[in-house]
Amino acid sequence: MKPFRISVPASSGNVGPGFDSTGLALGLYLHLNVLEANSLQFYSDGESISTENHFIWNIAEHIAHKHGITLPACKVQEANDIPLARGLGSSASAIVAGIELANQLGNLHLTPEQKLQYGTEIEGHPDNVAPSIYGGLIISTVFEEKIEHIQLKDIDVDIVAYIPNVELKTSVSRNCLPDSYKRDYAAKASAISNLTIAALYSKDYKLAGKLMEEDLFHEPFRSELIPNFSYIREEAKKHGAFGTILSGAGPTMLSITSKGKGATLQRYMSNLSLLADYQIKYIPIDYQGITIQD
Ligand code: HSE
Repeated sequence: MKPFRISVPASSGNVGPGFDSTGLALGLYLHLNVLEANSLQFYSDGESISTENHFIWNIAEHIAHKHGITLPACKVQEANDIPLARGLGSSASAIVAGIELANQLGNLHLTPEQKLQYGTEIEGHPDNVAPSIYGGLIISTVFEEKIEHIQLKDIDVDIVAYIPNVELKTSVSRNCLPDSYKRDYAAKASAISNLTIAALYSKDYKLAGKLMEEDLFHEPFRSELIPNFSYIREEAKKHGAFGTILSGAGPTMLSITSKGKGATLQRYMSNLSLLADYQIKYIPIDYQGITIQD
């Protein structure tokens, strides 16, 4: 077996009002270095870990089982830049990494569409899995058991992320949401979402940023769980952000700003004493999605 390296980008789900259907790939990565070995060995950031109940290995075995194969022994070294339980798609990246591990070790020749299908079946919604596979901004939905998706390339904005020093489980953040919405409310929410995507497609980022902050599907119900929600939004706007949104289920927030202005916004926000224990990062958009290197 030739050694190989799998790299999977992080992602930000929802992108404002695109609840469960829109996601943006971000340049923070989960890497798996895979080498030949006589027994199965897994290392995370240099430390040996058990593969029993290991999330990524379990996914790989699940996919192998679906295809009626057994995976060969190997040594897997995991290195992860993606903060866990912060709304940056760490679980979707791990799912995609597990699927790709099975794909490479088992010579399954999976297409990106099959990977998206498997990933969505495991995650439950495609908004994080899709950008981790394809890169860029992806709008997707499950339709007649298949997943339809469109990639918007060349989103000409900079992204600044505000990552607090607390975790928030997606299940907790989803439990705050209503079970249903009334027709007028849903029609308004959907109109805001549609127009946001149209504005992104038209590169009208001023309008896109404004509309992103008007989401009605999830942010109004989650904002109470998010430290400094309004403060971050207001400060970022004063310093050039088009809009600031929850990343996925939170607690991370993201600003979009003009291309070339991200580093300035990052510096300004890093000087705010209320955000002293945040990681405030200017993160490039990833346009490649999952990559495999020899
Ligand atoms: N669309 C998902 C949510 C993203 O908002 O709950 C987090 O998995």
